[in-house]
Amino acid sequence: MANEPQIVAAATLPELVQAAAHHIRAAAAEAIAARGRFRIALAGGSTPRALYPVLATGIDWTRATIFFGDERAVPPDDAQSNYRMARETLLDPAGIPAANVVRWRGEDPDLHAVAADYERALTDGATPPWLDLALLGLGPDGHTASLFPGTAVLKEESRLAVAVDTEEKGTRRLTLTYPALCGARDVCFLVTGHDKADALAAVVGGANLPAARIMRRPGPVTVFCDHAAAAGLHGGQTP
Ligand code: 6PG
Repeated sequence: MANEPQIVAAATLPELVQAAAHHIRAAAAEAIAARGRFRIALAGGSTPRALYPVLATGIDWTRATIFFGDERAVPPDDAQSNYRMARETLLDPAGIPAANVVRWRGEDPDLHAVAADYERALTDGATPPWLDLALLGLGPDGHTASLFPGTAVLKEESRLAVAVDTEEKGTRRLTLTYPALCGARDVCFLVTGHDKADALAAVVGGANLPAARIMRRPGPVTVFCDHAAAAGLHGGQTP
C-alpha cells in the first residue's frame, strides 16, 4: 500500500534546517531512550551543508553510529567526498568520535569488497531495521543516494550495500540499497531549489523514478523542502 509522505515546506533555509533538525533530534532521543543508540545514515551532495552545522548540537553523538547513504569513489579528503563534507560541517564541529563513524573506503579500487565490508559494518551487532533514520537528498533526475535511473542497483533486493558503475556520471559510486533505505525506521528527504520541483512532484506522485519507492514506502517519510522545490506539490504543511 503506497504511503503519502508528510511534506514540510519552509519559506526560508534557516526555517527549513531548524524544522529538519528538530525532527532528527527527536528521532535520536527516541532511539537512544528505547535502544541505547541512534543509527543514522547521512545524505551526501550539497543540500545538507546547511543542516549539518545545526545538527552538531542537541544530539548525544557519543550514543550514535553514523553511516552514509552513499559515497563517491574518491579519497576521504577529496572535494567530491560526502564523508569530507560531513566531516567539515558536522563530525569535527560536534567532536564526534571516529569510532562512531562508518565511512565508505571510496579510495579503495576494489569497490565490491568495500561494499561487502560496509554491509558487514551495518549489520554487525545489530538487528533489523538497520537504521533508525535515513536522511536523503533528491536529484533533478529523481535519483536518491546513488540509486540512479536505469541502473542495475534498482533491482537489488537482498544486499544492503553495493558498488554501482555510474560511468556516465564520471565517477563510480557506493550506495545503500532499497532493502537498507526502505527498511529504516524513519526516512527524511531534504530538498531545495526550483531545479528539484519537477522531480519532487513526480516522485511524491509515484512516478517510476528511483526515489519514489522510498518516498512512498509503507512507513514514516517526511520531506523537508523549500517553497521553490515544493512548487509542484499540492498542500503541504509549513514549519
Ligand atoms: C550524492 C548524494 C545524492 C544527492 C543528490 C542531491 O552523493 O550526490 O547522495 O543522492 O543527495 O544528488 O544532491 P544536491 O544536494 O547536491 O542537490
